[in-house]
Amino acid sequence: MDLLTIMKSRKSIRRFADAPIPQEQLDMLMQAAALAPTSRNRRPCRFFLITERSQLAALSRAKQAGAAFTEQAGAAIVAAADSSVSDTWIEDSSIAMTYIMLEAEALGLGCCWVQMRLREDAEGHSAEENVRALLDLPEQFRVVGFLALGLRT
Ligand SMILES: Cc1cc2nc3c(=O)[nH]c(=O)nc-3n(C[C@H](O)[C@H](O)[C@H](O)COP(=O)(O)O)c2cc1C
Repeated sequence: MDLLTIMKSRKSIRRFADAPIPQEQLDMLMQAAALAPTSRNRRPCRFFLITERSQLAALSRAKQAGAAFTEQAGAAIVAAADSSVSDTWIEDSSIAMTYIMLEAEALGLGCCWVQMRLREDAEGHSAEENVRALLDLPEQFRVVGFLALGLRT
């Protein structure tokens, strides 16, 4: 399938089959993230593959609205960028997330972008801070968002 066909068919999927994503496909998604270009080739992003149900549940509560379906996902990939390494961490994270999203579509997986930056949970805590705490990341790591992923129903 050529890339334009993949882009035309892609849409956000928020409901997933109750089955794990094969490891080979998870590896391909992580490879896609690593292939994304970054400004001045600084590579400030780290990508965290989450498959444990309790951690997916924590991500689903990291912000008040628009993340609940993550609890039923087969996996999530969090993009976290060291803002002390590059001032273009938003752009770099977003390009990599887009690469992952398109690879997910190419693999026939369901995928939805979940925004964390500038968002809050039900108690008014920063969604980014919630993700940093979950992944034990220092404050200079900024989290644009994550991708909820899963086999299609
Ligand atoms: C920057 C960005 C942030 C998004 N954040 C969320 C989100 O937090 N929760 C959600 O369910 N969808 C989120 N989406 C998905 C959009 O709602 C979706 O892409 C848009 O409505 C277009 O639909 P489509 O992806 O099916 O073409 C986000 C998409 C982008 C690009």
